[in-house]
Parts: sequence; C-alpha cells; structure tokens
Amino acid sequence: PPGAHVPVLVIGTGYGGSVAALRLAQAGVDVHMLEMGMAWDTPGSDGKIFANTTTPDHRSYWLRTKTKQPLSNFLGFPLDKDVPKYTGILDAEEFSGITVYQGRGVGGGSLVNGGMAVTPLRERFSAILPSVNAAEMYSTYYPRANAGLGVTEVDQAWWNSVDCYQYARVGRKHAQRSNFSFVFVPNVYDWDYMKKEVAGTVPKSAVAGEILYGNNAGKKSLQKTYLAQAKATGRVAISALHRVTSVTPANGRYTVVVEQLDTSGTVTATKTVTANKVFFAAGSVGTSKLLTRLKATGALPGLNNEIGKGWGDNGNVMCGRANHLWDATGTVQASIPTAGIDNWDAGGAFAEVAPLPTGIETWASFYLSITKNPNRAQFTWNSTANRAELNWQAAWKQPSIDMAKTIFDKINAKEGTIYRTDLFGVYKIWGDHLTYHPLGGAILNKATDNYGRLHGCSNLYVIDGALIPGNTSVNPFVTITALAERNIDTIIRTDF
Ligand code: FDA
Repeated sequence: PPGAHVPVLVIGTGYGGSVAALRLAQAGVDVHMLEMGMAWDTPGSDGKIFANTTTPDHRSYWLRTKTKQPLSNFLGFPLDKDVPKYTGILDAEEFSGITVYQGRGVGGGSLVNGGMAVTPLRERFSAILPSVNAAEMYSTYYPRANAGLGVTEVDQAWWNSVDCYQYARVGRKHAQRSNFSFVFVPNVYDWDYMKKEVAGTVPKSAVAGEILYGNNAGKKSLQKTYLAQAKATGRVAISALHRVTSVTPANGRYTVVVEQLDTSGTVTATKTVTANKVFFAAGSVGTSKLLTRLKATGALPGLNNEIGKGWGDNGNVMCGRANHLWDATGTVQASIPTAGIDNWDAGGAFAEVAPLPTGIETWASFYLSITKNPNRAQFTWNSTANRAELNWQAAWKQPSIDMAKTIFDKINAKEGTIYRTDLFGVYKIWGDHLTYHPLGGAILNKATDNYGRLHGCSNLYVIDGALIPGNTSVNPFVTITALAERNIDTIIRTDF
C-alpha cells in the first residue's frame, strides 16, 4: 500500500532480482518486489497465457501498435503487423543505433528467452569478470545457479532421432564438415515434457514453436523456479504493473516512487513507499536508465562517474544460410536451442544454432552469434527530452559481423551455399540492428564495490546484468544468476 515501509525493496523480477528475493527471504528478511510488466498468470480468450511465435497479438509487445519482429522479413515480404497497444511481454526498446529486446513481466527475460543455459569455459572467466574469484564461482556459485534454474542436458540419442531437431543436425553436419567444434548446450526446458510433446500425449509448446512471446508449458522460467520458491517462503510479495521512477534518501531510509500502470500503459496511480535497502534488478537497461537519471537529476548525487558506462551487446549478430535442397531443416522445429558452434578462441565467435519455427520448410539454417565485440556504449541523461539515452552506433556491429564470418564464410565455401538475404530486410544479410543480451551500465567493482554495493550510497545494491562489463562469451543468464548468488551470499552475511 502507498506510504508503506518495507525492509527490502527489489526493483525488477528477472534473474538478479529473483535470486536476491529468494536468498533474503530464506535468511528471514521480508522482501517486496516491484515489476513494471504483467504477472502472466491468467489465460487469454484463447485459453493460453502466451501467444505463439508465428501469431503475435496484443500480448506479444510492450506498448507498441505494430510488432517489431527480430526477423522482420521473409522471402521479400515484411512480417510486422498492427497490434493493439498493450503491456505485452517483449519490449523492443529502440535506442540510437540498436534495438534492445527484453522480457517484461514477472520473471523478466526468463519469460521470452531461449532457455540456453551456458556456463562459460573456466579459462575464459577472468576476461568476463576480472575482479571475481573464479575458483569460488566454479566450485560454488555456478553449480548453485544451475541447480536453482533447473538446468539439464538434452538426451542426445533422442535428439538424434526426432524430426524437430533436424535443423540442429543439419547445423552440426555443416559445422563439423568445416572442422568447427560443435557443442551441445544445456537448457532449462523440461526434456521429458518435450518428449511427450513429440509423442503427442501433452499439449505442444516448444514443438509448436512457442518461445519469443512466452512458453505455455515445458520451459522452466523463473516463475517456476526461483520465484516459486521465493513465494513459498511466505516472505516475498510481488506487485506487477508497478514501475519504479525514483529512489531518494530520506531519514536513513529510501523513499521509492512507483507508478501503477494499466494494461494500456497509462499511469493510474503514483505511490511512495519507504525501504531500508533497495536492490536494482531492472536489467542492464532498466537499472542503467534509472541510475543515470537519479545521478543526473540530483536524487542520488553520491553515485560515481562509472554510472551508465561499460554497456555492451554481448556481440550479438544474426544471420541465415540458404541450404541445398537435400539439406532440409524441417517443417517442425523445436523452439528450444540445444547447440552451438564454438570458434571463440580462433575467431571471436560462438554461434547458437537457432530454430526458425515458421511451420514451413525454409531450407534455411539460422544462427545467433555471440562475438567478442570490443565496443562499449554509455547511457547519458538528456534533460531536455527527460530521458536516458545510449550512444551505441550502428557501425559498431562491424567487428561482430567480421567475427561471425569466420564461421559462416568457411561453412558457405565448404558447402557451396550462400547467406540468406531476405530475413532482415530486402538484400540484407546481417541482423546487426539488435541485441537480446544487454549487459553493463553499472559495472561490478567500478560503479559498485566488488559485491554490487553502489559506491556513494549505503544500502543500495545492483544485482543484475548491469554489473557485467558488456560480454560473457556465451548466453548470459547463468552468469547473471551465479554472480547474483555470489554477491547476495556476502551481502546477507555482512549487511543484515
Ligand atoms: P531481466 O531483464 O531478466 O529482468 C529485469 C526486470 O525488471 C524485467 O522484468 C523488467 O520489466 C523489470 N523492470 C525494468 N525497469 C523497471 C522499473 N523501472 N520498475 C519496475 N520493474 C522494472 N540468455 C541466455 O542466457 N540464454 C538464452 O537462450 C537467451 N535467449 C534470449 C532470447 C530473447 C528473445 C531475449 C530478449 C533474451 C535472451 N537472453 C538469453 C538474455 C536473458 O534473458 C537476459 O540476459 C536476462 O533476462 C537478464 O537478466 P536480468 O536479471 O539482468 O534482467
């Protein structure tokens, strides 16, 4: 309720926020979580909570009147269509030079992501988080995160036999024929459920292509793991459709201003609550935007000059390859990715063999590459426009394209194939206008101390992807979760 006081307030319900809430609650602390997106716990008129990837509707996009599909075109036709404006699940947030895709709702990115749960190779870890003790991460916190998230490996014998992974087997064949290392990656999907989907004994979800706008069964989003456990403690409350706009010190506590939204995005109430401690877990973009504003407007003047810096896109770039007719990728493609091509050490790229769940045969192989792109952008405050801006430039994706080409130019040469030019526009090979993996903006051991305590303001913490300096060499959520587990362990021991 407005005017209420809570011991701990957590802004955002993604990976960082969910870890903080669960571990604090288990330690006996009452926690209130505020989430700007919806709860996603009620079916729509079609009986389903989430819309299918192939049929986006009002539930699919955050306050847009037209979809902004990552793959915008197909065979020369634009795919985007009008939708009613609604507090939908996927935000395609546009900054100059880049569109940043993010999940909106209780569960954050876990609602929309592919579930690829990758622990980076230990020898690459010091380049990701140089101030963090790697031995501790690999002995304690990565295992804890993987257990908490419900990460498991696909049954390879089954994978080798099912139609819905034909596309991935084609990806393996082409990778291996060009002497690349093809690696299976774990996921949070319930593989037994997917086996039943294939067998036809349960409603189809991954096999029906559900992913980008939510998954109605099978995927263990945070709603089913960390947040379910947190709620079961009885100490965690979550308010959905509540967006934090300000955090200011007052009498040794913090006053937090919150806007309540309706499903059209209209502010229906503005509330203030007070808290002893506040955790910023609004995601790399959400946390960075808030902190940039709070520093620039004088609400939190003690924040240091590292706020807003070190933001990266995890080197994301997408592309498709056109296969020969004998390399069909299948009309049914499971939406859950299972593998990647690792050319990180030689070429700076790790490519996820991604599904293209269109329901028709495309003869396309589709990839999301994570690359060692060195470019970093910064959030700054535009006082005239009253918003935080990011200075990423479109041309900064060129290193990512060059690194991805170390894999796909070679595969194309070996197979005698070409890139698809119809997926991101007309005659455009690279999906280089976007990222799924925003990271940084409040870097660990720079904007914060080595455990996420913000410099210059006691009792304020960052505990999400904003802490990570722009790149993880693989898909990021396991690392975000493991780092949050590490930081909260120390914070509970010393600050409570
Ligand atoms: P996260 O973004 O999860 O959560 C932040 C939450 O805070 C959101 O729910 C947001 O609505 C809320 N919020 C923001 N501002 C707020 C405010 N002012 N007030 C209240 N609430 C606010 N990663 C991976 O490892 N494997 C994968 O397969 C994929 N695939 C993938 C696909 C797609 C389409 C996307 C968009 C992303 C992925 N990712 C991924 C990335 C992964 O989902 C992402 O890195 C994490 O969700 C980030 O976790 P955080 O805890 O940092 O924030």
